[in-house]
Amino acid sequence: MTHVDGKVAVVTGAGAGIGRATAELFAANGAHVVVTDVRHEEGEETVRRIADAGGTAVFLPHDVSSEEDWVRVLAATKDRFGGIDVLVNNAGIYVIAPVTETTLDQWNRLFSINVTGPFLGAKHVVPYLAERGGGSIINLSSVAGLLGAAGHACYGASKGAVRILTKDLAAELGAQNIRVNSIHPTYVKTAMADYGAAVAGKTLEEMGRQMSVLGRLAEPEDVANVIVFLAADESAYLTGGEFVVDGGGGTSVLAV
Ligand SMILES: NC(=O)c1ccc[n+]([C@@H]2O[C@H](COP(=O)([O-])OP(=O)(O)OC[C@H]3O[C@@H](n4cnc5c(N)ncnc54)[C@H](O)[C@@H]3O)[C@@H](O)[C@H]2O)c1
Repeated sequence: MTHVDGKVAVVTGAGAGIGRATAELFAANGAHVVVTDVRHEEGEETVRRIADAGGTAVFLPHDVSSEEDWVRVLAATKDRFGGIDVLVNNAGIYVIAPVTETTLDQWNRLFSINVTGPFLGAKHVVPYLAERGGGSIINLSSVAGLLGAAGHACYGASKGAVRILTKDLAAELGAQNIRVNSIHPTYVKTAMADYGAAVAGKTLEEMGRQMSVLGRLAEPEDVANVIVFLAADESAYLTGGEFVVDGGGGTSVLAV
């Protein structure tokens, strides 16, 4: 049993994919979960699934690029559950395009969600975590934040920024017992992997065989397990770390 029982966790972008699996796993382990997303129906659906399984969750509409939204969501979380222990900066978008075809609008929009979102989240959640004597912030980066890839100038740069933002925050917030770690998955079976596979002209099975020594792509639950561990008491001495979840892919094992 991972010790997140009774903790209050805010998970952004939890209307689908990794965020939904993470919200469900937190709730299954006794945490109170705030599901946030720009897509209301999908967020409400996550809450319904959690309630059906006997867990506790609420949905709050949230655009992570909006500072006003962060202030409202975090205040509403405290009103509802009495405080905040965990923030998972999961919401993100993906663009694959040659640099010469990437528009400034695409770049700015992607950065406003993938990088400004986690910055604003940290900025506004720290006082709440400090009030509880500490807490955990978990940022979704990617293997694309560790290695270069063609067509990934925009997305990869955003995930590289999330990686070092994580370490800067860990250094700054350790004295308040606030831990900050980043997660670096390879392709996970969500809408993002469908898009990546379509651009590469491959099936998810082919991508799995190519990208992991385990011969399969990650399931959202494979990533959720690591996120919940980084929120739990068992990871109390981990901060500033980068946790690669790539099934022994190219960042871990050399293909020879
Ligand atoms: N799936 C992968 O292959 C993969 C690999 C590495 C890293 N990641 C990262 O993991 C995170 C989750 O990815 P996923 O695959 O579950 O994505 P997904 O597309 O399945 O879900 C992302 C969710 O974020 C929400 N969202 C988008 N913009 C938002 C905004 N401005 N404010 C709030 N919510 C917003 C979407 O509505 C959606 O419900 C992302 O940060 C992604 O970059 C994913």
